[in-house]
Amino acid sequence: MNSPALPMGSQLQRSGPELHLEQVSLSQMAREHGTPLFVYSKAAMLQALAAYQRGLSGRRSRIHYAMKANSSLAILQVFAQAGCGFDIVSGGELTRVLAAGGEPGKVIFSGVGKTRAEMRQALKAGIGCFNVESLPELAVLNEVALELGTTAPISIRVNPNVDAKTHPYISTGLKGNKFGVAHEVTVQAYQQAAEMPGLRVVGIDCHIGSQITDIGPYLDAMDRMLDMVEAIEAAGIPLDHLDFGGGLGIDYQGERPPQADALWAQLLDRLDARGQGQKMLMIEPGRSLVGNAGVCLTEVLYIKPGEQKNFCIVDAAMNDLPRPAMYEAYHQIVPVHERATPVLTCDVVGPVCESGDWLGRDRSLSAVAGDVLAVLSTGAYCMSMASNYNTRGRAAEVLVDGSQAHLIRERESAFDTFALERLL
Ligand code: LLP
Repeated sequence: MNSPALPMGSQLQRSGPELHLEQVSLSQMAREHGTPLFVYSKAAMLQALAAYQRGLSGRRSRIHYAMKANSSLAILQVFAQAGCGFDIVSGGELTRVLAAGGEPGKVIFSGVGKTRAEMRQALKAGIGCFNVESLPELAVLNEVALELGTTAPISIRVNPNVDAKTHPYISTGLKGNKFGVAHEVTVQAYQQAAEMPGLRVVGIDCHIGSQITDIGPYLDAMDRMLDMVEAIEAAGIPLDHLDFGGGLGIDYQGERPPQADALWAQLLDRLDARGQGQKMLMIEPGRSLVGNAGVCLTEVLYIKPGEQKNFCIVDAAMNDLPRPAMYEAYHQIVPVHERATPVLTCDVVGPVCESGDWLGRDRSLSAVAGDVLAVLSTGAYCMSMASNYNTRGRAAEVLVDGSQAHLIRERESAFDTFALERLL
């Protein structure tokens, strides 16, 4: 059987028929920990991070891991130990990142709907910056900071109205999106912020979308943002940092997004050409740091031949891997142990009672009941979006480091899923 190429940067390799992540056999992991099981490679994460570090070396800069991509504590710990800051979007994420050893001063808080309680929590923790997304939010943050007798460091998220050319659900930088402040009113928003005694203007930010595979939208967003920086500074408001958000795509299905260092070489040229290269540079990558560092192992329960279609029914489902159901996203699915059984064209589906519960459509697979499959490129936006739908406990997670495998999350039991509920 002709296997598709394994995703770039995944640290997956075959040794004979057997799929390994770094030096660890994935069949062995499935036997030891059961399925569904997420397995992550530490080396793949650090390698992805290194590309950004190379790209930004020699500059005043900080990489904030967008932890919504995968917020498991041990993953956060890897990035904290590597010196990263974090991009958070809730008070819960702040609690989590501090529990994992993240430094509050390196945390930036994004999101359109921060509550007063979350603002208070973040101000007390002493986070590095609030990325404010609207004028009413500026006013509320000002009030909360004054109540606490402090000032809140802020940047305003500007909406550059650039098409990131990605799935509409993950495109965020267009006029019709709920994110950011329209670029036409940005200077005015900065003037208002500068006059509020509870706020301290420190930067500007933008984020145009996710799974971006073209360099063009980034360059356009950079140009628009620099226009705004010039206008804001001309109005007498200095900005210390520029935050370009996240969004760089990964190889799910043969996509060839630019490498982070190549992307930054071009962005830095633009910045330098416009005389802004000395500013503190901040970024918020999520998917590109963890997406291809993870796989989800799942056992084949039944092969069900159908009149129109064959189904390969596996023990992972849309509650573990929501991206296909939500975005019709593609994830490669490969056998963990390749065998010479006949190839079947089938839909790979889970046990959840929804027709939307599919993981892959019309796949050519060589598998029989009891085999273990690996769903690839599942390090980002899978476990962090997992649910307990159908009272399915969430999967266990393992982090591989060379030849060592660490269990970083135990499998959730049915009892865990209703532990906080009360009978009448
Ligand atoms: N910064 C902000 C303000 C964001 O909203 C996001 C992602 C990021 C950074 C990180 O973007 P990344 O580097 O991961 O592309 N669940 C969807 C993706 C949602 C992205 C939301 N915002 C998916 O599975 O494709």
